[in-house]
Amino acid sequence: MQLKEIDAYARLPLPVVGAEGNELVLKDGRRVLDLYGGHCVNTLGAGDPGLGRVITEQWKRLSFATNLLDHEARGCFMAAFERNLPPETDGWSVFVSNSGAEANENALKFALAFTRRRKVVFFKGAFHGRTAAAAAVSDTKLAAFPSTPFDVVKLPWNDVEMATKAIDTSVGAVILEPYQSLAGVTEPSAEFLATLRRLCDRTGAVLIFDEVQTGNGRLGTPWASQHFGVVPDAFTTAKGAAGGLPIGITVVRTKMASAVPGKLFGSTFGGGPLVLAAAAHVAHRVAEPGFLANVKATSAALCKAALQNSGGPIGSIRGAGLLLGLVVKPELKASQVRDALLEQGVLVGTSDDPQVLRLSPALTLTPAEANRLAKALDALVVKA
Ligand SMILES: Cc1ncc(COP(=O)(O)O)c(C=O)c1O
Repeated sequence: MQLKEIDAYARLPLPVVGAEGNELVLKDGRRVLDLYGGHCVNTLGAGDPGLGRVITEQWKRLSFATNLLDHEARGCFMAAFERNLPPETDGWSVFVSNSGAEANENALKFALAFTRRRKVVFFKGAFHGRTAAAAAVSDTKLAAFPSTPFDVVKLPWNDVEMATKAIDTSVGAVILEPYQSLAGVTEPSAEFLATLRRLCDRTGAVLIFDEVQTGNGRLGTPWASQHFGVVPDAFTTAKGAAGGLPIGITVVRTKMASAVPGKLFGSTFGGGPLVLAAAAHVAHRVAEPGFLANVKATSAALCKAALQNSGGPIGSIRGAGLLLGLVVKPELKASQVRDALLEQGVLVGTSDDPQVLRLSPALTLTPAEANRLAKALDALVVKA
């Protein structure tokens, strides 16, 4: 074969041929418990029958339509999505695109157009995507373009004093992940979030939460703003919002959105009927009684399983709901523990922090399934 794939990913030695619920099925028939959940994408687990039905029926009824036409799936999505939103007097406005990076680009474009400013504040450890504007506010050299499309200021995470000095009336937007996932599920202090909200209120900067990972029920509340009690002016999501189909969603307070020309935004595929039918189904499931209670119960079961054996590899836990960072003991590396867990039939993720493993399983994982982590950790042989 002449065609080569660009070497973007370090692939794990897992010959996956299928997946069912929360298990990956390997070529030799072995099954691996998936505590990574396709990186927060598999909200409902693999092959959810309800989601499969919705997608199949929508495909038969109306597979695709240009955004110049309205369709039923859009109305269904708007109604279902609205149910889970945090309260806002004048309501929220939404724009649908195809990915997390695109959702963030649109939020930043909106904020800079609304404020007529050209400076964006972001934080050390941030990851917002790989396209030009999203990379400009990400703390990673690997995603960098030669120059940024606007002025950027990087501030230390959780540093109230530095934020107070830097956020003035020249700042158009402040963007952050409510939990910095890739950085190792680092938590914001309550004072930090409250200060950012107060500074944005005072200066007119638009506060943007990137909820690409934290949204759609992952923290045990529909959105991080309901978990932390701080509501941003705009937020974005992607990954799990359509349970496995590509989507990006930018949500903005209507009183701000209506001041910016809608024609600044557009997408060929974004907001097509298939993906909106899937996203409506996910939003309905998140709103179902018991769905978020399961997220919290399974989170507690995972934390208990991870810390059960005081002689085991996990020292402490960060995060909330089903976005958890397991901090391995100082003498170990997260990647060693990840590899050893894989040998025990459990898939977990790593992060940019060499000491932190990430768990981001499907939100349908049960406490009983979570208990399998304890057994795997007990049997662990960590190789240097
Ligand atoms: C917090 C966060 N924002 C944005 C993105 C970019 O999303 P996408 O890969 O869909 O562009 C990611 C992807 O990992 C992410 O974790």
